[in-house]
Amino acid sequence: MHHFEYRGEDLYCEEVPIAALAKEVGTPFYLYSHATLTRHFRVFDEAFQQIPHLICFAAKANANLAILNLFARMGGGADVVSGGELFRALRAGVPPDRIVFAGVGKSREEMMEALKADILMFNVESSQELRLLNQVAGEMGMVARVALRVNPDVDPKTHPYISTGLKQSKFGIDISLALEEYRLAQTLPHIAIVGVHKHIGSQITDVAPFVDSLTRIAALIGELRTLGIDIRYLDIGGGLGIPYQDETPPHPTEMAEAVTPILKTLGCTIVLEPGRVIVGNAGILVTKVLYTKQTPTRHFVIVDAGMNDLIRPSLYGSYHAIQPVRRQEGREPITVDVVGPICESGDFLAKDREIAMVEPEELLAVMSAGAYGFTMASNYNTRPRAAEVLVKGDRHFIIRARESYEDLIRGEGIPDDL
Ligand code: LLP
Repeated sequence: MHHFEYRGEDLYCEEVPIAALAKEVGTPFYLYSHATLTRHFRVFDEAFQQIPHLICFAAKANANLAILNLFARMGGGADVVSGGELFRALRAGVPPDRIVFAGVGKSREEMMEALKADILMFNVESSQELRLLNQVAGEMGMVARVALRVNPDVDPKTHPYISTGLKQSKFGIDISLALEEYRLAQTLPHIAIVGVHKHIGSQITDVAPFVDSLTRIAALIGELRTLGIDIRYLDIGGGLGIPYQDETPPHPTEMAEAVTPILKTLGCTIVLEPGRVIVGNAGILVTKVLYTKQTPTRHFVIVDAGMNDLIRPSLYGSYHAIQPVRRQEGREPITVDVVGPICESGDFLAKDREIAMVEPEELLAVMSAGAYGFTMASNYNTRPRAAEVLVKGDRHFIIRARESYEDLIRGEGIPDDL
């Protein structure tokens, strides 16, 4: 469910016609619906109401300060994977005791920043990381709260680039070695074991991988308890998929119903790290048609947003629906490639897509772009990153200004001695 709908021929975000926003902020821009964001967060939260839980929104999906702040106001926290994301979460007003820090390559500096902030816990992904964290915490006269990220070796049946819980993956500690690592952690004076973490992948459209992985983790928690290791938090990661095209992922309540019987027996506070399911369908990318072009073999629609703005189609072959911002009667359907201005053949938003014919200056909405859209944007081809706009009812807010050319060269210098 989202709040991007036609009224007559015009596409609206809540009470605001999108064409009017484009006139004001220019194109391309990301557009988020406040009602959709809050609804998705609430539905997810309510789905898990039977068990004590904390939602740490995965900042990598959408790290805008306003959005992180919105979820913090609703009782959520943040899952961060870098010093930069930690900085954002703190700036956005996320309480430190609702921040968890994952990632296979945390640096010493990042550890120090997170210890200083006194975050809820580190999700540690290797033995060496554990030892370094112990050392850094010791130097600071602190004790680091830790969950070990366990790799349960379960196939999430999603795109290989976003599968993280298989044996061959770089993430986490293999479940067969987990007990050994926990024993090591027990001996380290500046480490306090508080939990177990797992995250098996993203855009998962079936409950079975969640149930299978949690069954394995539940058994591990039992073994840990027999060793006298208390587990207060079980962080079950994120990964629930959304409909981009014709996928039928489980509703959050279905997922909760499937896993609650396992989680209930454990007596832990459950940490959840949803990203896409909260923000994916709450955002779109609005772009303008620059040209149309016919070659002997193809029809191209050339738009002003490129792979630097939304890389998912180029990187994963992802499908994003493309809709006209103004529907026009009697337009012929035509099969086109919707491409951007970037100098790469891989720069496309859609391939072989049937759309109603469009003309230059018309606006298109690239749907389901609220997750991993702006956060994966780059300045390739020295293109300023797009503006981000949030609509709430009949009001709108520019929550990130479009970058300027000056922004793009900040920090660069020409040495005198060239
Ligand atoms: N927790 C951890 C430790 C993660 O690595 C991720 C995503 C999440 C939570 C959130 O997963 P979600 O609920 O959003 O599925 N760029 C890719 C997705 C990469 C996901 C990486 N990790 C894409 O555009 O599809």
